[in-house]
Amino acid sequence: MATHLSFVLQLAIITSCAAARESQPTIAILRDLGKAAGLFIGSAAGVSHFQNDSQYNLTLGQQFSLVTPENACKWTATEPSNGKFDFTECDFILNVAMTFKQVFRGHNLCWGVHNPSWLQKLAGNKTALIDVLTRHVHTVASRYKGKAYAWDVVNEAVLDNPTSNQTLKTNIWYPAVSNYIDLAFKTAHEADPQAKLFYNDYNSEGLNGKSNAIYEMLKSMIQRGIPVHGVGLQSHFTLGDDFTKMKNPKLGRPAPSYNDMAANIKRLADLGLEVHITELDVSFAGGTGTEQQKLQQQAEVYGNVLKACLSNKMCKNYEVWGYIDKYSWRKSNYEPDLFDSNYKPKPCFDTVAAMLQNKTVV
Ligand code: XIL
Repeated sequence: MATHLSFVLQLAIITSCAAARESQPTIAILRDLGKAAGLFIGSAAGVSHFQNDSQYNLTLGQQFSLVTPENACKWTATEPSNGKFDFTECDFILNVAMTFKQVFRGHNLCWGVHNPSWLQKLAGNKTALIDVLTRHVHTVASRYKGKAYAWDVVNEAVLDNPTSNQTLKTNIWYPAVSNYIDLAFKTAHEADPQAKLFYNDYNSEGLNGKSNAIYEMLKSMIQRGIPVHGVGLQSHFTLGDDFTKMKNPKLGRPAPSYNDMAANIKRLADLGLEVHITELDVSFAGGTGTEQQKLQQQAEVYGNVLKACLSNKMCKNYEVWGYIDKYSWRKSNYEPDLFDSNYKPKPCFDTVAAMLQNKTVV
């Protein structure tokens, strides 16, 4: 597997270098524009897309200054059976990032879902869970020591509708290991003291009950000396404005207003935290009007999120969860990404490029 992947990578890179020499890019280069504005421009990347599609590699390298493995470093990939670690895919994405001189952003060390079945079977077994959590976080963070700019240490731990009695989701970790978040951050910091350690979540980009709960949780962690350095605002949005119809989380949620998002970023930054837009996409689900109108509405959302990020110098990463519609984790016919399925930049791409072009460092 390792040999196969490295062969595929070399091939893809040779192909893309040749293509880059032949065709001078005629479109804006977001990574350069982001650099001038003091911002990483990131994308998630999926291992399988490199194998049959050399254009995928070319555009990823050309446009983005930061890369996050979409699935390659998750627990299912890195520790598929108890104590047996496999870094083939995670290393592959790290190599891509190094080849293209991109920052590598690790994702993720601890999550309540998408875990291997052996781990799920430990639910409720406090001693075993503490053992495997510390071993996993330590082993993975150590492997990428000095190479990962940041890690999402804990993903999506807070309830969508937190109450005064309960803030955290019930999952394999909680309430069995009631301090699992602190434990994961402390362990990651011991393993890689240079990496910036992030808490990452969705539906918490603007001002609402969930973002308030996350703010309070992070404030308390900082006060208690837990090594947390940043917060990820996933930003999976949809054009529809009726939240009650959005039963399926894959449909996403309407974007918050620019003012709410800027205010949330400011209060998090005022805690001393770095803020990253980590998983931006804007689905057509729930949208109305013609294709042209939807493309325009989508561009406005991409623009508002960028404007909110640019409003605070602690917001250092504007990242999309995949950049091309055909490989989106959301349905590709919802057209959520910067490029259409033929690698043509969409109006949202043009908006992002234009906004970055007009921006000087905050
Ligand atoms: C998603 C991937 O994009 C899918 O390929 C996979 O099947 C499930 O996970 N929040 C996160 C990401 O933090 O890890 C998720 O990625 C999308 C939602």
